[in-house]
Amino acid sequence: MATGRGGFSSKLGVVLATAGSAVGLGNIWRFPYITGENGGGAFILLYLAVILFFGIPAMMAEFCIGKTAKANASKAFEIIAPGSKWYIVGLIGVIVAVIILGYYTVVTGWTLEYLFRSVLGDLQGKSVLEYSNMFDDFTADPVRPILWTAIVVFLSYLIISKGVQNGIEKASKVMMPMLFIVLIILAIRSLMLPGAAAGMKFLFYPDFSKLTLQSLLDAVGQVFFSMSIGMGCMITYSSYFKKNVDLIKTSASVASIDTLVAIISAIVIFGTMFSFHMQPDEQGPGLVFKTLPNIFQQMAGGIVWALLFYILLFLASITSIISLLEVVIAYINETWHLSRIKSSRIVSAITIALGVLSALSFNLLSFVKIGGMGLFDFSDFITAKVLMPLGGIAMAIFIGWRMGREEVKNEITNMGKYPVAIYKIYMVLIRFVVPIGITAIFISSLLPH
Ligand code: PHE
Repeated sequence: MATGRGGFSSKLGVVLATAGSAVGLGNIWRFPYITGENGGGAFILLYLAVILFFGIPAMMAEFCIGKTAKANASKAFEIIAPGSKWYIVGLIGVIVAVIILGYYTVVTGWTLEYLFRSVLGDLQGKSVLEYSNMFDDFTADPVRPILWTAIVVFLSYLIISKGVQNGIEKASKVMMPMLFIVLIILAIRSLMLPGAAAGMKFLFYPDFSKLTLQSLLDAVGQVFFSMSIGMGCMITYSSYFKKNVDLIKTSASVASIDTLVAIISAIVIFGTMFSFHMQPDEQGPGLVFKTLPNIFQQMAGGIVWALLFYILLFLASITSIISLLEVVIAYINETWHLSRIKSSRIVSAITIALGVLSALSFNLLSFVKIGGMGLFDFSDFITAKVLMPLGGIAMAIFIGWRMGREEVKNEITNMGKYPVAIYKIYMVLIRFVVPIGITAIFISSLLPH
């Protein structure tokens, strides 16, 4: 394999960088509103089951592919299954990364706007309606959101162009611990608010009557998006793992960190909302931008909490953006043989161009609809709910039925460190449970209901 491909230097670096990819807007922005829309506690149980039966096995499958092939998401399939069409699965993953980047960087731009506004003292003294209008006015502006998007891409470029070890790993080692500290402070604060208990009841008391067939697909989409699986991101990152990295431990740690951050974020958000008598109804994507500023201003020291919250969101997003960029950079770098810097520049330019389209879908381009959805909503739908679960099915089939048994067994048992029984259980999950389960959920969500 090409020398100078780089790699993560330590096991801690592996876990922090991989968790950095997983923990993002998906946990702090998407998970709470999806949980809110699906009625709370029961959805969380469903979510945990999907992680255990689909998420962790699918993540391990990607690790297995990336660590064995030591190449980008598409080339990895070519190396393991030469002459086949499997590389298309990886290529679709690269495209998914580009689509996600197009709107993810826009939302990250919103967090910078709100960070900035909390510093300027602009998140104070407004009514519920004024906050709601503030967000709508901001996204209706054709220029400002685009400027923030460009700043986000530029900052990410500064990190990613430094490479895997000096860019991704270093940034994750600084930003992830900061993120954990901010999150814990916010959670303690939120739990101390009078009335937070009602929020906890909403979150943890399972009311199964709230679940629909659609909730199942929501849970699958949320797990794939949140764990960064089904599109080659984990193949790309694991191609930088050293030989001795233990796939079971790594996937279990990353899944636990990812889930904990999602649940603690929901505690922060719902604890705070309920204590101010706000209901988590259909707030959708505006939840953390419309509702929270209004709550923060009512809390003692509100500006500080708002500032901390948007810093949290920003840190989480950046480490995910660099992982999305890396999927495309590794692909361009190894397929078109362009330098890392050149590849980073190309990807950054494409991201800004798509970011512009997605930001404009809230204003000048709001007439553009695909399947009844604006560009922004469509990008979220087609990636999280369609392409990533499909990618997950394909990768499960690849590991379960196509890749050499001995190779998979060696990787899963960490060269015989774990008993063969674990490998056997894994094979049942990856050959049958994952592909059949996700396909069934897909079909049932298409049925009329
Ligand atoms: N997992 C990230 C989040 O939850 C998003 C992401 C998806 C990152 C796919 C990389 C790849 O925000």
